[in-house]
Amino acid sequence: MKAIVVKPPRPGAEITEVQRTPGKGPVLVRIVENGICGTDREIVNGTFSGARAPPGEDYLILGHEAIGVVEKIEGKVEDLEVGDLVMPVNRRGCGHCLNCLVGRPDFCETGNFVEAGMIGMHGFMVEHFYDDPKYLVKVPKAIADIAILAQPLSDLEKSVEEILAVQRRVPVWTCDDGTYNCRTAVVIGSGAIGTLITLLLKTYGFRVIVANRRDPTPREKEIFFGVGAKWYNSANGYEELAKETGGVDLIFDTTGRVDVVKSVFPALRTNGVLGLFGFSEAERAEFTSADLKQLIYKNAAVVGLINGQKPHFQQALVHLAAWKAMWPDVASKLITKVVKIDDRDAVLDVLKHRSPGEIKIKISWQ
Ligand code: BGC
Ligand code: ZN
Ligand code: ZN
Repeated sequence: MKAIVVKPPRPGAEITEVQRTPGKGPVLVRIVENGICGTDREIVNGTFSGARAPPGEDYLILGHEAIGVVEKIEGKVEDLEVGDLVMPVNRRGCGHCLNCLVGRPDFCETGNFVEAGMIGMHGFMVEHFYDDPKYLVKVPKAIADIAILAQPLSDLEKSVEEILAVQRRVPVWTCDDGTYNCRTAVVIGSGAIGTLITLLLKTYGFRVIVANRRDPTPREKEIFFGVGAKWYNSANGYEELAKETGGVDLIFDTTGRVDVVKSVFPALRTNGVLGLFGFSEAERAEFTSADLKQLIYKNAAVVGLINGQKPHFQQALVHLAAWKAMWPDVASKLITKVVKIDDRDAVLDVLKHRSPGEIKIKISWQ
């Protein structure tokens, strides 16, 4: 059976035959397509320090963004039929802590969770895999073209849920019409995550400003202006933004760069929230007690955001369906490239390098 295999911590990936069908459970899934994200590339390029093969194995099947078709079901499984399109949830619980036991390994307390295609569990870049229906999310066929985005979007659904929960600390953070329409969010970075979080925050009613150290490309203009977001060129810092907006209520960082986050921080208004989503492994920057004091005096909340679970996958699919109806031109631009699994060189190339203007690249197995 064909699979895309890595051997962490060594860099490199190969398309090869594996002997056993990975996974366990009564549902046999045939893969239709995979998405590629920055984490896959970090694993392939040997820079994702957490990557490891399942216990006792010397290779790891890559891939945590996947859509497949149910090919066989052993016994009876409620709500799932042969022929259904499904998406597997990528993080699986430690089996011990309470949060994992109630289906929320995104809040695992032991740290002994596994993540498909990354940490101790085979991923889904493989012709077939077995799974438990508990981890499979049904995908509506009407949005099959963009549904692969539901995995990265699940992380962001969870992020917004968490940010709003955190902001319930403020007696009132909604506006005088009960919405978030008067709240301004700045999204740092305009890549795949920056794009999806912009659409999501717009859906929640925020004013959204996307920041990057340059002017937008024509495609970025179509996407961001198409959903009613604004653009801010941050090449000269964030002072201008603070002046123009009178301060922002939410900073959502997708870059993981301390210097960038620090430079935008003075623009945060009192009672605001800083959501940290992106991370990078290389940068060294200073965080001082003056920075801490600023956080305190602003009454700021800082929240680390990682991993969405099954309820977030379900919400993500609903939002993708809504976006297809609300912003069809934008939705049609989110998948920037499809490569076929038989095109070996192209597959290995997109696994290593990000292409300019990329939002989501898919590997098609059909
Ligand atoms: C995935 C998350 C996952 C994280 C771990 C991301 O690429 O989308 O679900 O928890 O990697 O680093
Ligand atoms: Zn990912
Ligand atoms: Zn746990």
